[in-house]
Amino acid sequence: MKKVLFVASECVPFIKTGGLADVVGSLPKCFNKEEFDVRVIIPKYQCMREDFKNQLQYVTHFYMELNWRQQYVGVLHLERDGIHYYFIDNEYYFSGPKPYGNIHEDIEKFAFFSRAALSALPLIGFQPDIVHCHDWQTGLVPVYLKDKFHEGPFFANMKSIMTIHNLKFQGIWDVKSVKDITGLPAYYFTPDKLEAYGDANYLKGGIVYADAVTTVSQTYAEEIKMPFYGEHLDGLMRARSNCLYGIVNGIDYDEYNPETDPFIAQHYNARTFRKEKIKNKRALQQELGLEQNDGRFLIGIVSRLTDQKGFDLIAYMMDEMCQQDLQFVILGTGEEKYENMFRHFAWKYPGKVSANIFYSEGLSHKIYAACDAFLMPSLFEPCGLSQLMSLRYGTIPIVRETGGLKDTVWPYNEYEGTGTGFSFANYNAHEMFNIVKYAMYVYYQKKREWNKLIDRAMAADFSWNTSAKKYAELYYRL
Ligand code: ADP
Ligand code: GLC
Repeated sequence: MKKVLFVASECVPFIKTGGLADVVGSLPKCFNKEEFDVRVIIPKYQCMREDFKNQLQYVTHFYMELNWRQQYVGVLHLERDGIHYYFIDNEYYFSGPKPYGNIHEDIEKFAFFSRAALSALPLIGFQPDIVHCHDWQTGLVPVYLKDKFHEGPFFANMKSIMTIHNLKFQGIWDVKSVKDITGLPAYYFTPDKLEAYGDANYLKGGIVYADAVTTVSQTYAEEIKMPFYGEHLDGLMRARSNCLYGIVNGIDYDEYNPETDPFIAQHYNARTFRKEKIKNKRALQQELGLEQNDGRFLIGIVSRLTDQKGFDLIAYMMDEMCQQDLQFVILGTGEEKYENMFRHFAWKYPGKVSANIFYSEGLSHKIYAACDAFLMPSLFEPCGLSQLMSLRYGTIPIVRETGGLKDTVWPYNEYEGTGTGFSFANYNAHEMFNIVKYAMYVYYQKKREWNKLIDRAMAADFSWNTSAKKYAELYYRL
């Protein structure tokens, strides 16, 4: 039996700000239970879902040294769908309305969490063969493992994996403070270890010290070896390329299932979508005050509103796009300029644009089910899950060919009758607009072709089946 511990800063259904939580929440369930015991450890945030907070069971507590400080570490536990989840409790670090706040506070918060997660293991009696770390918040785990912890027999043979969900976020702060916060000796703060460009960098530490590094699509694994996508670490990614693997994400096919989804107005599947999917569109148009029109091309966007997702292209083109025969529904939160942009266009084009500037799981499912197309023109995209959710619901993705978008959306080829979506190559607003117009043309003029696109989209398999096997192989290899 191989034992694996996921260490992460978020995990559905407990706490989520983005796709990281979806992955950490769904992947552990997809390993063969006879072969793998995969457990998860995350912080116990005050802002986590109340219903779960009340179910957590106290396991133990202890005081941990973090350089010169003594800190309380509580450990709580919950078993759900056969998976053991552990929660690190410390009200000083994990209160607050959101999991993340000021970077300098987060730097200390996640140093604490990383060390506490390892320190708790002997006490809870779980000795993983592999510690699987996710993103910069857990970048110190492989470092600590090779440092102090390595000396004890309990940790000596533990291997670590660092998975990069987004290279843009690295956890950077000045060396002096980080030395003080982490208690790591000066030895670690050189350019071949934690230091990058004069500062301390958690993710870099994780990448340097982990036994293997993965990222969430094959294309992104290649892209980050180049300066444009490398976020100043492309040299390191090239240096680590012999143990850098791209494994594309999957999604939870039970949770995202148009046949059973409790959030949507009308269930449907790959056989019945021609008749039934439209009922979701009607319901959504009505709910959001869009013009009631079955035939109108409805484009959805569900996203963090950040530069990463290509919103400057949309900002540039939105007026012109709104001259077309289409409707937009947006669900997202993020940078104020984009929130206000969508509010503005909803005001300017009532009945045509619906801007929903908040977070809602229910509405996100309704959008995946109701729309004809889903627009995701990302500047970069390590994997992207929204396009996978769209495919699952037969909503045709329109994407830029980058990262995981390139690997999961196959462009429509009208001559061969292949493809599951539409894509464009260059980060250029008119290129995006042209492909949107092309999609509209197929939708309006070639309905049978459009429906065949939906057939192929719904037949594509982005459950975890294939990718969980790849992680399993990697666990064995280590
Ligand atoms: P990222 O992790 O970069 O934000 P992904 O596509 O991997 O992008 O994952 C985004 C996840 O967050 C999806 O599950 C998407 O449905 C969800 N999401 C984003 N914004 C919202 C929102 N405002 N309300 C509900 N779900 C959202
Ligand atoms: C990050 C990336 C996104 C990816 C997600 C889960 O948030 O931005 O592309 O799908 O992590 O791996």
